[in-house]
Amino acid sequence: MRQAGRVVAEMHAAIRAAIRPGVTTAALDRIGRDVIERRGARSNFLGYGYPPFPGVICASPNDVIVHGVPGPYRLAEGDIISIDCGAIIEGWHGDAAFTVGVGRIDPEAERLIAVTEASLAAGIRAMVPGGRLSDIGSAVQSVVEAAGFSVVREYTGHGIGTAMHEAPDVPNWGRPGKGRRLGSGQTYAVEPMVCAGGPEAKVLQDQWTVATVDGRLAAHTEHTIAITDHGPEILTLP
Ligand code: MF3
Ligand code: CO
Repeated sequence: MRQAGRVVAEMHAAIRAAIRPGVTTAALDRIGRDVIERRGARSNFLGYGYPPFPGVICASPNDVIVHGVPGPYRLAEGDIISIDCGAIIEGWHGDAAFTVGVGRIDPEAERLIAVTEASLAAGIRAMVPGGRLSDIGSAVQSVVEAAGFSVVREYTGHGIGTAMHEAPDVPNWGRPGKGRRLGSGQTYAVEPMVCAGGPEAKVLQDQWTVATVDGRLAAHTEHTIAITDHGPEILTLP
């Protein structure tokens, strides 16, 4: 999983470097494919679900929360864009996402991204042996709501290992001290989805794209994390 995580981090770096006004999300997907191929990895996104997901990345601009399908959309100055990437090495999965601004963005959009990142960091800090699963979501929710934003309820993080999505779900909300006990050797994908306005989400006609109902901005950030005897280890870093 460390190896798969490193490939995901490399996809992030290559795509991040290419994000600028005028680039299409299909071009960013191409960059992800090239990294996967170069590292001898496989994609866990391509062909996933129904209808089969057509990309190796999800590209989710502005009011799109998650699962945006890469295609002809051209990034514009002032957009924010979430890029979600996954890879498989020798049967083991990595999954991670980041959100970034395109060129100069609104201060409120900047704050949304910063708070989303801080909420993931708080969730990760709760991932210690002896803690409880709901400590993660509780930590995420506290950071998000203290900033005046909201967390999406219809989608969650997840266990991850020899499949991309394993039990249990990892919600981004809840009271602490509940659910399974966290222990060394467990691996989770934690992924706050944060809305500037209300948390209500809708699936668009392509059956993948998930957008905010109120049309306001959403940000998404994710890491694959292992719990070790020494605490959390982020696997999807370079
Ligand atoms: N990475 C997403 C998740 O965190 C799943 C991507 S959906 C797919 O669960 F179709 F692209 F695979
Ligand atoms: Co995930």
